[in-house]
This record gives sequence, structure tokens and C-alpha cells, in this order.
Amino acid sequence: MTDTTDIKKGLAGVVADVTAISKVNPETNSLLYRGYPVQELAATQPFEAVAHLLWTGELPDAVALADLRATEREHRALADEVRAVIDLVPLDAHPMDEVRTAVSLLGAQDLAGSGSVLAASGSAEDNLRRSIRLFAALPAIVAYGQRRRRGQEMVAPRDDLDYAANFLWMTFGEEADDLVVDAFNRSMILYAEHSFNASTFTARVIASTLSDLYSAVVGAVGALKGPLHGGANEAVLHVFDEIGEAANVSPWLDDALENKRKIMGFGHRVYKRGDSRVPTMKAALDTLIEHYERPDVAELYDALESEFVARKGIYPNLDYPSGPAYALMGFDTLTFTPLFVAARVTGWTAHVMEQFGANALIRPLSEYVGPAERHVEGYVPDAADVEVAERPEEAAG
Ligand SMILES: CC(C)(COP(=O)(O)OP(=O)(O)OC[C@H]1O[C@@H](n2cnc3c(N)ncnc32)[C@H](O)[C@@H]1OP(=O)(O)O)[C@@H](O)C(=O)NCCC(=O)NCCS
Repeated sequence: MTDTTDIKKGLAGVVADVTAISKVNPETNSLLYRGYPVQELAATQPFEAVAHLLWTGELPDAVALADLRATEREHRALADEVRAVIDLVPLDAHPMDEVRTAVSLLGAQDLAGSGSVLAASGSAEDNLRRSIRLFAALPAIVAYGQRRRRGQEMVAPRDDLDYAANFLWMTFGEEADDLVVDAFNRSMILYAEHSFNASTFTARVIASTLSDLYSAVVGAVGALKGPLHGGANEAVLHVFDEIGEAANVSPWLDDALENKRKIMGFGHRVYKRGDSRVPTMKAALDTLIEHYERPDVAELYDALESEFVARKGIYPNLDYPSGPAYALMGFDTLTFTPLFVAARVTGWTAHVMEQFGANALIRPLSEYVGPAERHVEGYVPDAADVEVAERPEEAAG
């Protein structure tokens, strides 16, 4: 029997494997992608270059970036079949269900005719190609999701725009200001990767069975939907809407804490003294607040942060500034978590490729706490039961 002190509920503190993709260091409050501080990448790189970095280990030179951008443009348009499947998803379903379904169809289409499950995991080249395809296809899926909920027509991609500007174009049907494109690009980079978080770990568990990359991403989308993970950026806006204005923060917080509510956008399993991505995203939010002339957003943001930190000593995570930033850009609250998918798909797919490259099936143990062995009334053991009973050491599948 396992000593219950050995059980790491929620796998807290467990180092499950090595990774060369990112390093989260809560002590120094830093996050590195392949060795580069995320703040530097957000300040200097287009999201496409960071995707290349996560997948291959290096930032692209001019030729590699141009190649990646050309391939990304080829796969940008929403295929008719994908659009038809999205249209089958009820308008009042959560858009994450739409994204999950669309990714599943993209996988089925791409893998059609690829043979038995024994070949599902594919080669390194297959998986890089699949990763770029998903990265390129997701903006149209997310943008169309928001537009159809608003009763608007789909907007075709524009070949003269890079990833971030085109994403905004397909969502809003108008060219975004450079300042907004820059803030959006930064948010995508900050959301791209964060080591063994719940959705990435889900993707790695699925990859560890030697299933395919698309299945791993479908599972990751499901994990990201939860409000304790990606769903928190959406939940932050619900909190802002509930509070209304800065003057209401104190009484709202009294009530929320009395009712033991979790305040969305605060706290983190790994960072306990603040999330390293927050200052960069907060700076982007500040430029948006100025651009859209919305000091009321800053007042509410600051009031809730300072009062909650003072009372509980729990700091904001990335979802806290990104939620209001996406709202100011014009995204509907329901679209926030799908935006997270479009960014994090780069990290998920990098991890899937890393898992395939040095695989071990992920299969932890559990401590059984159910009823002691008992028997169905009237059952008479036969020879097969006796044989099983004589092999008690055999591992369960
Ligand atoms: C992210 C999160 C799940 C990390 O949780 P964790 O490491 O498992 O820590 P716990 O949930 O066990 O929290 C530890 C303590 O802090 C409290 N706490 C943590 N985050 C809190 C929050 N956002 N609001 C209120 N209390 C919080 C817990 O209630 C708990 O208090 P207790 O010891 O008195 O029971 C948690 O902070 C949370 O639910 N945050 C809100 C959702 C969110 O923003 N998620 C996005 C993460 S990037």
C-alpha cells in the first residue's frame, strides 16, 4: 500500500519529464522560451517567429520566416467543410466546443487514408507540417465563431497582412490600428507556451499513447476550456461586469470572499509571487486604455488588484490583463478562450513533437480507497477466476 504522504494530489510539485521548450522560474519570476525571456520576444518578434522558435528551437532567419509565412497564408482560409461543421454547432454552445470540433475535423481530413493506428504518430516532418496547418487554420475558425454569433458574414483572409493583422481583419472586417496589432501580437506570444500546464500535459498524455497530433490538440482544447485554466480570461470579464465600477470593489470583494469564491485572474499553481507575463501584458493593456480612452477600465483593474493583493496576498495571472485587453480590442467575452487556443496551439504542438521524440507512456498509479473485495451474490467461481487469482502480480492495463 502506498504511504498517503506519497500521493501528490493534482500532481503538485511532481516533475513528470524533462523539456527543452520553456522554463518557468517562480523564484526569479521569469519565463524563457528556448532560452529567450518571453518579454524580449514579445517586444521584438512577430508571433510567427515565436512559433518557429517553439517548434524548431531557433528563431527563424529571414528566409525561414518568409517560408513559414508563405505556408501559413496557404492554410488560412476557412475550408467549406470546416465552415459547414462549425455551422452545425448550436449558436448558444460555447465557442470552445466549436473550436474543438473544427480541430477534430481538420485532423480527420488530414489523416484520411493514412493507414492503421500504428502509423498515427507520424514522422517529425509530418508533425511539423500538421502543427503549421493548425496554427494557420485556427484564426479563421475563431474569427468566424465570433462573427456568426453576431450574425455577420465570414471575412476572407488578406494575403498582404501578417498573422496578427490578418487575424484581426478576419474577426472585425476592418484593418486594425498598428498599436492594436502590436498588443494582440504580444498577447499571442505571452500565451504561446508555459511548460507542463494542464492542457499541455493533456496533449502530452495523449501523444504518449502514440496517438496523432490532432487528437492531442483536441484533448488540450478540452482541458483549456475549464475556468481554472484557460477559461479564466473569459471569467475575468464576467467579474468586471459584475463589479461594474471601481467604487464597488470593496463590498463586492467582502461578499465574494465571505462566499469563498475564487477570484478569476488571480493565483497560479507555479507562481506564488506574481506571474512573469503580467507586466508585459499590463503595459499592452495600458496602451489600449489610452488608445480607446477608457480610464474607467484602468480604475477598476487597479482597484480590484490592489484590494485583493492587500487582503489575500494572491497576485494576478496573465488572464487578468488579457481579458480586459481583448474586450477593448472588440472581442466578445466568449471569444477570449478560443484566442488562447490559437496562441497555445504552438506550445501544445511543440510538446507533442518533443514527447514523440523521447516517448514513455504516461501512466501514473492510484491509491485505491473503494470498498474491500466483495462478491456478486450467488456467483460460483470457475476455473478462469482461479487462474487469475494465481497471477496477482500482473499489472492492470
Ligand atoms: C490557478 C489556481 C487553480 C491555482 O491553484 P492552486 O495552486 O491549486 O492553489 P489552491 O487553489 O489550492 O489555492 C491555495 C489557497 O489560495 C486560495 N486562492 C488561490 N487562488 C485564489 C483566487 N483566485 N481567489 C481566491 N482564493 C484563491 C485558495 O482558496 C486556497 O485557500 P485555502 O488554503 O484557504 O483553501 C487558483 O489560483 C485559481 O483557481 N485561480 C483562479 C482561476 C484562474 O485565474 N486561473 C488561471 C490560472 S493561469
